[in-house]
Amino acid sequence: MQNAAPVVEIDNLHKSYGPLEVLKGVSLTAHEGEVVALIGSSGSGKSTLLRCINMLEVPEQGSVKIGGEAIRLSGKPPNRHPADEGQIRRIRSELGMVFQQFNLWSHMSVLGNVMEAPLHVQKRDKVEVEAAALEMLGKVGILDKAANYPSQLSGGQQQRAAIARALCINPRVMLFDEPTSALDPELEVEVVRVIRLLAEEGRTMILVTHDMDLARTIAHKVVFLHLGKIEEEGTPAEVFDAPKSRRLQQFLRAADHT
Ligand SMILES: Nc1ncnc2c1ncn2[C@@H]1O[C@H](COP(=O)(O)OP(=O)(O)OP(=O)(O)O)[C@@H](O)[C@H]1O
Ligand SMILES: [Mg+2]
Repeated sequence: MQNAAPVVEIDNLHKSYGPLEVLKGVSLTAHEGEVVALIGSSGSGKSTLLRCINMLEVPEQGSVKIGGEAIRLSGKPPNRHPADEGQIRRIRSELGMVFQQFNLWSHMSVLGNVMEAPLHVQKRDKVEVEAAALEMLGKVGILDKAANYPSQLSGGQQQRAAIARALCINPRVMLFDEPTSALDPELEVEVVRVIRLLAEEGRTMILVTHDMDLARTIAHKVVFLHLGKIEEEGTPAEVFDAPKSRRLQQFLRAADHT
């Protein structure tokens, strides 16, 4: 993986909310085809880190590059902001975000949800987009739900629709924020199956998860975030079988009992 091109490069990110310093200098790279699992206890800054990648949160310090292109920021904290909204829109349209709470548009059918960004943000051709959307719905196993509205789907089906929507923009990277934690265990299985399939296809992914088994089996690199810093990182074998830091050892013991 180290020889592959970097897709996401995060360098020395700092982010505070008022007096609360949530990220204290985090650097992280995801290479082409690499699956990076981000683990850590609640409040350690995992979601904040993901949200800084697409500038839903603007960091006070540090930089983010997508496909080698630095996201340009201007101004001084606390008024640091994107220098070029057009750049942000374009870069966001290359990032496939999947959240814990599916965030589908309730007034649109599943197919409409999947087609929305390719049609209206990426301005692609309608016939091509519809074919791509149906293919993605087939891939995640809910082609039969294309005409249904989100409220008519189970949680697992809604999350798979959200994954199909993210895939349909042909993202450079998929960013998952605890995609299974709002689901009952039996619905979780269907979503995990799709995430595994994407990993096998060689998609670049950054995955925040509480599912240690998933992290161990699909990640190339596991990153343990603690109190806003990377406390330890390595291969799944290094992180799960031979954790060095006491914090990580404690975290894994606690995770074992949940
Ligand atoms: N918009 C916000 N305003 C103020 N504080 C925030 C905001 N968003 C997050 N925080 C705080 O920042 C810290 C990190 O939050 P974050 O959501 O990144 O944690 P997390 O690691 O994703 O946790 P979890 O596992 O519970 O999802 C928490 O203490 C949280 O309360
Ligand atoms: Mg979170």
